[in-house]
Amino acid sequence: RVVAVIMVGGPTKGTRFRPLSLNIPKPLFPLAGQPMVHHPISACKKIPNLAQIYLIGFYEEREFAIYVSSISNELRIPVRYLKEDKPHGSAGGLYNFRDLLMEDSPSHIFLLNCDVCCSFPLPEMLEAHRRYGGMGTILVSKVSAETASEFGELVADPETNELLHYTEKPETFVSDRINCGVYVFTPDIFNAIQGVSTQRKDRANLRRVSSFEALQPVNRSLPTDFVRLDQDILTPLAGKKQLYTYETMDFWEQIKTPGMSLKCSGLYLAQYSSTSPHLLASGDGSKTATISGDVYIHPSAKVHPTAKIGPNVSISANARIGAGARLISCIILDDVEIKENAVVIHAIVGWKSSIGRWSRVQGVGDYNTKLGITILGNVFVILIFLSVTARESVAVEDEVVVINSIVLPNKTLNVSVQEEILL
Ligand code: GDD
Repeated sequence: RVVAVIMVGGPTKGTRFRPLSLNIPKPLFPLAGQPMVHHPISACKKIPNLAQIYLIGFYEEREFAIYVSSISNELRIPVRYLKEDKPHGSAGGLYNFRDLLMEDSPSHIFLLNCDVCCSFPLPEMLEAHRRYGGMGTILVSKVSAETASEFGELVADPETNELLHYTEKPETFVSDRINCGVYVFTPDIFNAIQGVSTQRKDRANLRRVSSFEALQPVNRSLPTDFVRLDQDILTPLAGKKQLYTYETMDFWEQIKTPGMSLKCSGLYLAQYSSTSPHLLASGDGSKTATISGDVYIHPSAKVHPTAKIGPNVSISANARIGAGARLISCIILDDVEIKENAVVIHAIVGWKSSIGRWSRVQGVGDYNTKLGITILGNVFVILIFLSVTARESVAVEDEVVVINSIVLPNKTLNVSVQEEILL
């Protein structure tokens, strides 16, 4: 039997994703109409002999309760949320629940980061892992040499695929092959994590009784039960015939910023055409809007037949899209109203916002721009949020143009703005 674990982190992680995570935990932010974590979860369904899926994080249980119970019913596989009392790191979090995870006596454990977007070739990884016969197999992708340093860089044996060298986010270039944050392990991984933790305890004890501290300043501040999968496990085990790599040629992206959520929403929409074509709007018939490219429209959303939607558009529950509206490359969240003839391009329109008639909301469309107060000129998406309690607030009044800006909750824009962050 096999179990799958998805690391979802907690409220102190994922800060670059703000303000999209102000209302909702980042793993539940919708991409292609489904919560971010839904994509790895539904990929797990393809794993043969899968017994359980666990989400491990330090968000409050209630934040995941509804999603976890509905997805368990839908997939007919038990999905459970396990809450850590504090962050234990990506490997420590797994170790923390080892007894529970071992209840099904799994022969293999999948471990997935929730903030990666890919085709999750899990059955293929498992097959390769069995062939290699090691303790763990890492999903690997080739990226451009310029971006590699944002990830764990690694070197593998071209013949055997053994992991020979691993460095987490190195300052000088090592390799354009990177760690995708998707792994399969045998239960021996728990011994490896325990080893790191024991070693730390021994060092701490030694420091207490000697002046050893001066010799071992590294990691002094890390608690003994805080273990990182990359630095503490992968780096020391590389080259020891225990870890292997499986390279994917499909798409792979990391979802750290709001701009990347829009790009990944598009990648998942494109994937639907082969995996879940029923989720894509077809635009057939005279009573439906004109659809171009991949578009998701929630069944409760109301889209006027004269609106033109797509490509890469995802429209969430109870949104209303007026006559003549034009939407390109955007995520429209729950209860949004886009009025007649408004145009929304490269934008994320937050919960309960309203965009006035003939107004235009547009970002430049550079997905890699990091949103931030300090780089105002490069800001990419428009984020328009109204507080969840606001009933009739208007985010953008009629005939207003909003370019490359971020608009936070409870704002009404009655003049046009460009390159602004409105708090
Ligand atoms: N439950 C829990 N507890 N989850 C955690 C914790 C923790 O204490 N710390 C991190 N995570 C989760 C995050 O939510 C994320 O899904 C995953 O573990 C990895 O997060 P980080 O350790 O912050 O690493 P990263 O995302 O910057 O980079 C990792 O992933 C990249 C691929 O996306 C590294 O493994 C890189 O090498 C890799 O390229």
